[in-house]
Amino acid sequence: MSTTLEPDGTYEGVPAYCYDNTAGGPIGSHHQRWDDVAATHSGFRSSIARGFWVVTEGTAVQEALQDWRTFSSTSVTALDPDPKFLWIPEMLDPPMHTEWRRLLGREFSPKAVAAREPEIRRVAVELIDQLAQTDGADVLDGFARRFPTTIFLRLMGLPEEDLERFLDWVHDVLHLSYEQDPDRSRQFSAIQQVSAYFQEQIALRREAPRDDLLSRAMTWRIEGKPISDRDLHAFCVLMFMAGLDTVPIAVGWVLYHFAQHPEQRRAILADQALIATSVEEILRVYSFVIPARKATRDVTVGGCPVRAGEMVMLPLSVSNRDPRRYDNPRQVDLARTTSNHIAFGSGPHRCLGSHLARLELNVAVEEWHRRIPDYRVADGQDLRETGNMYGITSLRLEWT
Ligand code: HEM
Repeated sequence: MSTTLEPDGTYEGVPAYCYDNTAGGPIGSHHQRWDDVAATHSGFRSSIARGFWVVTEGTAVQEALQDWRTFSSTSVTALDPDPKFLWIPEMLDPPMHTEWRRLLGREFSPKAVAAREPEIRRVAVELIDQLAQTDGADVLDGFARRFPTTIFLRLMGLPEEDLERFLDWVHDVLHLSYEQDPDRSRQFSAIQQVSAYFQEQIALRREAPRDDLLSRAMTWRIEGKPISDRDLHAFCVLMFMAGLDTVPIAVGWVLYHFAQHPEQRRAILADQALIATSVEEILRVYSFVIPARKATRDVTVGGCPVRAGEMVMLPLSVSNRDPRRYDNPRQVDLARTTSNHIAFGSGPHRCLGSHLARLELNVAVEEWHRRIPDYRVADGQDLRETGNMYGITSLRLEWT
């Protein structure tokens, strides 16, 4: 994939491009492309499939995410304005969304998350200790994916022996390129398996509730009514989509960044207080989530004349790397004091798991560097990143 877009004329007076966000590319190419486009456009039309709008003006992206009345979450996939599936709470608008968030907020509050810290640290240490005995590894397979997935299984009360199955499912549902799965049959089969798995787990807890998130959710009431199995299932599927791939992607960027910047690695080793700043800066600079919304009315945003019912893509990168918001926006700056980034989104759907994600990332950086302080990117790799959410596909590091 080149970093430049293929022009496709204009659409209602706005530049149109063949822009496909599902395509992977060389490492860094997605961010480079957003930077280039944002420097010259406030928005454009993607002419892929039925077409959708893309806003590339940072402030407009943030404002649209906050304006849920105009930019609804009833669809969050730019290529599909009328999805046949439901993810809860992601695809709900207020007031129903607000009820779910109030109930879920207790489970993901800073206090609830902090109580898990010793366990989170133990899981990280165990995995890193194993790697520290070797002289290198694919750190995505060996650590970045295993660590948060194990925590996720514990949080949801799912059996840990299912870890390998989950890793395979995440790969097949979220990472297969068009060449690897041209008719999407592998992806479809994995989605069916995930769906059947969660149906079974819900049934098990209906029979015998346990002390876990899923069992507690069964006791909640939304709009005065108990939650149906259909909605519990929609919640589980969303947790799979939102909670499983994101921290691995972020850990991958953290290790890649520090491998490329030994001076910053030495700085965090000398002053642990810089770790939290480094995590925030890496989340900002390597922002990898690209939300989308469905317009409920005709509206102009980022210069795009959006009609009611059309989809709008809102890449977080253009806000987080906006030169009008940050000096040297593309640089991870350990001296930056105010960040205010939107890597976890903005508005009512701002990430439910942000406290957990931050804790996992801080623990990962601390424990990794205590055990493996000196490492480098192994030579001879064709480093690439996925489409949809931009994560490194595989990353071999070496250490002594
Ligand atoms: C570095 C890691 C993470 C990043 C960058 C991230 C980013 C995001 C973003 C940008 C959104 C908003 C999407 C939108 O507006 O359409 C979101 C939503 C969400 N995230 Fe995260 N996330 C991370 C980790 C997690 C984790 C660990 C969990 C749970 C275990 C989680 C659960 C959720 C949920 C449930 C939502 C939907 C919230 C709602 O619709 O109200 N996320 N995340």
